[in-house]
Amino acid sequence: MVLYYEPQAERARLLDALLGEQAHAAQDLAELAGLVTADPDTLLVVLGAGVGLADAVAFAAQHRLTRPSLGVVLLREHVDVAVLAEAIRSGIREVITASDADGIQAACSRSLEVSRQLAVGGTPTTAPSAREGRVVTVFAGKGGCGKSTVATNLAVALADGGASRVCLVDLDLTFGDVAIMLQLVPKRSLADAVPMAGRLDDTAVRSLVTPYAPGLDTLLAPPGPAEGERVGRELVSEILKIVKRMYDYVVVDTPPFFSDQVLAALDLSQWYILLATPDIPSLKNLRLTLDMFDLLEYPESQRIIVLNRSDSQVGLTQADIDRVVRAPIAGRVPSTRDVPVSINRGVPLMVDSPNNPVSRYIREVRTRIVGAAGGTGDAPVTHRRRPFSLRRGR
Ligand SMILES: Nc1ncnc2c1ncn2[C@@H]1O[C@H](COP(=O)(O)OP(=O)(O)O)[C@@H](O)[C@H]1O
Ligand SMILES: [Mg+2]
Repeated sequence: MVLYYEPQAERARLLDALLGEQAHAAQDLAELAGLVTADPDTLLVVLGAGVGLADAVAFAAQHRLTRPSLGVVLLREHVDVAVLAEAIRSGIREVITASDADGIQAACSRSLEVSRQLAVGGTPTTAPSAREGRVVTVFAGKGGCGKSTVATNLAVALADGGASRVCLVDLDLTFGDVAIMLQLVPKRSLADAVPMAGRLDDTAVRSLVTPYAPGLDTLLAPPGPAEGERVGRELVSEILKIVKRMYDYVVVDTPPFFSDQVLAALDLSQWYILLATPDIPSLKNLRLTLDMFDLLEYPESQRIIVLNRSDSQVGLTQADIDRVVRAPIAGRVPSTRDVPVSINRGVPLMVDSPNNPVSRYIREVRTRIVGAAGGTGDAPVTHRRRPFSLRRGR
C-alpha cells in the first residue's frame, strides 16, 4: 500500500490524482504513523510539500530503523542542497519538486522497487543508503599536485589496518600510478571490465581487484593508454555503484582533467579532495575547478581543499594565494623529501612513517570523512540539477 499526507487541500487533490487509486490519504501525521504500523505491507509514504521539513525528517528518522523497507518520498516547493542533506540523513529516499509530476512518479517507482527488494531479501537492519560506502575523489586540474600520493595514503589511513574495507580506484586510465606506488603487479585492471559492461555484479568486480593490505583492495588502471580508452563513463559508473556497496570507503585517484570518467566518479562522490600546489598555474586551475564544481552543484561543504607542498618558497604570499583561490583552504601539507623517497620505495608514507607531517594531515582528513559517515552527515549525491551539456562529455 502507498500512503500520502498533504495538509493543504488543493495540493492533496493533485497528489491524489497523481498517485492514483493505489494510494490512501492520511489526515495528519499521527494517523499516517498509525496506518504504517497497522499495515506491514505499506512500502511507500509520500509527504507533500505542505508538511514541515522538521516533521518529515522526524517521521523518516523514526521509521528508518524500525521499518527499513518503508520508503519515504518528500515533496518540496524548491529543492536545495541543505534540504536534501537533512532529508537524506534522516532516511528519506528522495526529495522531488512538488510541480514535477513525472519526477514524483519516477521517484515513487524507484522507491517501491527498492522496498520490494528489501522485503524479498529479508529485513536488513539499516536502510540501503546507510550501508553504502562513501566515495572520496581526489582531484586537481594540474598534474604533479600530489593526487596519487594523497589517494594512496588516504586509502591506507581509511583502511586502518583492516578495521574498514576500502577500495582504491585508479581512474588515471592513461598514466595511472597507483600500482607502481604500491608495488603491485596488476593481473587484472579496469580494462578487464569492458567485456562485462552492463552485466557486472559483486563477483565480477571481486575478480578485478588486486588486494594490497588487510582491508585495502585496489582497482588498477590498465597497463597501456589504449586499453584505458575503452573504459567509458557508463562503465565507470557501473563499477563504482557496485564497489560502493561492497566497501566502506572508495577512494578514487584521477587524471588532471575533467574526463567523462572523472565526472562519473564525481557524480557518485560524497567527498572531493581538491589539490593545488602554491604556483600560479596550479592555483588558477584550482579556481577553474571550483567554478566547474559550482556549475555542477557539488556541495561546497563536501570539498576539502588542500594546498600541497605549501611551504615551498616560490614568491607567493598567503594573500596572493587567497586572491586567486577565493575559497577556504582546509589544510596545508608541507613539502618533505620523505614523499618521493616513499614513492620510490613503493611503500606509502602512512605505512612507514605514520608520524610524518604528511601522514598526520592525511589522518586529519580521514577523521573528517569517518566522522561524517558516522552520522554528522555527508551530502547526498542524487538530484543534482545541472545544465544538460554537462551531463555528458567534458
Ligand atoms: N608533500 C610533498 N612533498 C614532497 N614531494 C611531494 C609531496 N607531494 C607530492 N610530492 C611529489 O610530487 C610528485 C607528484 O606527486 P603525485 O602524487 O604523483 O601527483 P599527481 O598524482 O597529482 O600527478 C611526486 O614525485 C611526489 O613525490
Ligand atoms: Mg597521479
